[in-house]
Amino acid sequence: MLFSSKLKRAVASLRINVAARVEGIQAGVPTFFDNFILKLTANLLAREEIHDWNLAHKTQPGSERHALQMDLQFVDIYLKSHDEGRFVKYAARRALDRARNGIVSDIAELDLVMSQGTDTCLNWKSDPLFKTVYDFTLYPMMLWEIRPAAIIEIGSGLGTSAIWLADMLGVLKIEATIYSVDITPLQKTYPGVRFSAGDCRHPETLIGVEALKAMPHPLLVIEDAHVNVLGVLTYLHPHMRSGDYLIVEDSQPKQETLDGFMSKYGASYRVDARYTDFFGRNATCAANSIFKRV
Ligand SMILES: C[S@@+](CC[C@H](N)C(=O)[O-])C[C@H]1O[C@@H](n2cnc3c(N)ncnc32)[C@H](O)[C@@H]1O
Repeated sequence: MLFSSKLKRAVASLRINVAARVEGIQAGVPTFFDNFILKLTANLLAREEIHDWNLAHKTQPGSERHALQMDLQFVDIYLKSHDEGRFVKYAARRALDRARNGIVSDIAELDLVMSQGTDTCLNWKSDPLFKTVYDFTLYPMMLWEIRPAAIIEIGSGLGTSAIWLADMLGVLKIEATIYSVDITPLQKTYPGVRFSAGDCRHPETLIGVEALKAMPHPLLVIEDAHVNVLGVLTYLHPHMRSGDYLIVEDSQPKQETLDGFMSKYGASYRVDARYTDFFGRNATCAANSIFKRV
């Protein structure tokens, strides 16, 4: 079958790429995932007479055939995700979600639920920081690559996220001001951070048009207030330039809102799958919603 041989070839080239990366940039040190995927694909190649690279086999849970079929499906989705490349149209991401029966993330619900902490939430310098372990790790990498000239954070919480971002910028020696807005303004002051009051229900109160026009770029916008998301994104959109980033946090319940926004402005954005899929497909609170303005 053409499709079967295509999947087999893709698996073979995946193994070559993983081995080359391990021997190259990783200086011979494999990650847990490298070991996992090499073992899984070696087993698929060794047992191909059973699964025949055919994704449509119906198998009995608990059987060896079923385990192989699950592995085959896992590697197929992994390859499909990677086939799309790094900067992916939002509509294509959502189409693959639908092909997975609506499964948006590789992270199990309980793992995501626990990823901000269980007994206490994640701390930064003893203050509560409402990030997941995934995003806590992704942000410094993104900051280093994007090198934002300004950050707008919508939803300050207790201010810890803005302070943490400012500290990260300091470590990375990136000069940028963080404008952190909340309906309940914080009285805190911190170098590099400007806390202010604004209400997402009236987006123009978050940051005025003149201030937006004067913003330096690249601009990084983080939406983390979860109120009138469509109105807020629509308000900010004309001020986003090529190379800017828009991150919509806690977006699994916002996918329909994002569908609406992207149905209108999708041509202007790509999902940056390097970050959404760094720890597995949509292993982030910003599922399908780490956007680069193109
Ligand atoms: C999830 S918290 C932000 C967490 C923070 N960014 C962090 O990562 O630590 C959401 C924030 O949105 C704010 N908020 C709620 N409704 C809002 C509105 N209409 N306009 C602006 N901010 C609002 C809340 O006061 C709250 O501080």
